[in-house]
Amino acid sequence: MKLLLLLALMGLNIYAAQVVQVADKYKDSTKCKACHNHIVTQWDNSWHARSHYDNDEYLQKTIDYVARKESGKSLNTIKVECAACHNPRISVTSTTSEYDAIAALKLDKDSAVNKAINSDRISEGINCVVCHNIDQIHDNLPDTKRGINRVDWMPSGTMTGPYGDAKSPYHKVQQRDFMDTNPNQLCFVCHANDTSEEGHRFIDMQSEFKSGGKQCVDCHMSPRKDGVAATIRDASGQAHKRLIRDHGFIGGHIEKMWNGALKVDVSKSSRGLEVTLTNPQPHAIPSGFGAREILIEAQYLSSGKNIKNEVVSLTNHYISRHNKPTVPHLAVKTVESISIPAEGSKSFSIPIASGSDQVIISVSYRLVNDEVRGILDLKDPLWSKKMIIKQVKLKL
Ligand code: HEC
Ligand code: HEC
Ligand code: HEC
Ligand code: HEC
Ligand code: HEC
Repeated sequence: MKLLLLLALMGLNIYAAQVVQVADKYKDSTKCKACHNHIVTQWDNSWHARSHYDNDEYLQKTIDYVARKESGKSLNTIKVECAACHNPRISVTSTTSEYDAIAALKLDKDSAVNKAINSDRISEGINCVVCHNIDQIHDNLPDTKRGINRVDWMPSGTMTGPYGDAKSPYHKVQQRDFMDTNPNQLCFVCHANDTSEEGHRFIDMQSEFKSGGKQCVDCHMSPRKDGVAATIRDASGQAHKRLIRDHGFIGGHIEKMWNGALKVDVSKSSRGLEVTLTNPQPHAIPSGFGAREILIEAQYLSSGKNIKNEVVSLTNHYISRHNKPTVPHLAVKTVESISIPAEGSKSFSIPIASGSDQVIISVSYRLVNDEVRGILDLKDPLWSKKMIIKQVKLKL
């Protein structure tokens, strides 16, 4: 029995990420516009289209910071590590210590690694030929193998999709269940868990997920609705009518998604104000990427005049091996992890300001907490913007 287990584990370890080059004809979303322009436009506004180093300030500065702090690892090595999920069509999937030594001397300009990092094949991040070129997802692999390390690609030019009967003059097609009845399997290729350089698991979205109800795509794409997959007309002179989903992948960066994302109840008790946050979603909030934050702000008024403010911050703090605050990717541990569990609730007590006759409670969300924003010196106002979840007024 033990021998079998050992053999099985060895088999898993032999599996290495396969690289399949994408032909010029399919390499970026502009190639799909002639027939799928509506989809390209929606995807282009999503954060999947911004998952490359050059297009997301937060990602870029985290990668730079990790490379600065991890002595012995070059910037390109960190970029390759992160590319597993952020740029899975990359043509190099690991680097060696010899490479890092050459990179430290700046002699790596013509290396395969440097060419892979700077290739226009990956500049669009998670584009059409990431999701629609996946052939198989290997859920028998250890759960740390993610992104490019968990999938096999189709030959370039075959698109996987939800339909069994589609025909296209531009590319071959194949139907897959992860595009149809089991789309969570596709999302979990990347949105499952992530581990720091120190081996600390700072995200575990898949194990927190309460399956059984809606799928990721119902809320973050759209429910299925009438439309067309391709605008080109077929032999009968019509564009083929289909059930489709939007490709906006709307989420935490989009203010309107936060409106009502949590239920907020406020009452008076002997301890002060009781604020209860209830999360109807099937995953924790905040969840996904670390260092997100929920703010509960109480503004106390007396005869309409503001007399006092109280603020409660619900966020994760990360500690480095030097016992200092750090970013998730360098953490040895998480302290003060306060998120609202899937389909659960949490209550917080806030002292009531004496002399107040009214309180306005605002619950909002921020993409990056003060601590990590400070460490990385993030400039774009997006990262500190308060996105309103709910406001409640109460007479005291
Ligand atoms: C010349 C037109 C044309 C171009 C260009 C084109 N497609 Fe298509 N595609 C089609 C047609 C037609 C269909 C079938 C639509 C239907 O049956 O409703 C299709 C279907 C699909 C499907 C669904 C397949 C299925 O079986 O469910 C995917 C995914 C897809 N295309 C992706 C892409 C991507 C990615 C690109 C760019 C790299 C692209 N297409 C470029 C015409 C095109
Ligand atoms: C190849 C890896 C990968 C796959 C597969 C993937 N994602 Fe993502 N997703 C990412 C990464 C990386 C980001 C963060 C991009 C950034 O902010 O730079 C992201 C971001 C998001 C966001 C946040 C957007 C925002 O505005 O905050 C949502 C929502 C999302 N993905 C939904 C999905 C859904 C639904 C699926 C399955 C259909 C899916 N993703 C499949 C890697 C992936
Ligand atoms: C994060 C993964 C992901 C990315 C990136 C992505 N798609 Fe899709 N796409 C899906 C999923 C999942 C479906 C199946 C939706 C359903 O359940 O019917 C789908 C469906 C489709 C369909 C069938 C019609 C529809 O809208 O449901 C077409 C055509 C298509 N995608 C083209 C594209 C093109 C072109 C791009 C790039 C601009 C793209 N997709 C990017 C995940 C993705
Ligand atoms: C019932 C609807 C629903 C389902 C199903 C769902 N989500 Fe969400 N998700 C939300 C809402 C609402 C939010 C909060 C507002 C926002 O960020 O869009 C959210 C937030 C997120 C965020 C940002 C997290 C944060 O705290 O910053 C990510 C990433 C995400 N979801 C991914 C997923 C993935 C992956 C799945 C499937 C495993 C999924 N969601 C399933 C509704 C849903
Ligand atoms: C296992 C797959 C995976 C790997 C590997 C990965 N990420 Fe991510 N990353 C994600 C997903 C999925 C999201 C989106 C989650 C969300 O929005 O809550 C994300 C989001 C982020 C964000 C937030 C971006 C934003 O716009 O808010 C940062 C920063 C980030 N990752 C940094 C990194 C760095 C640095 C590395 C490499 C050291 C890395 N990631 C490796 C999956 C991964």
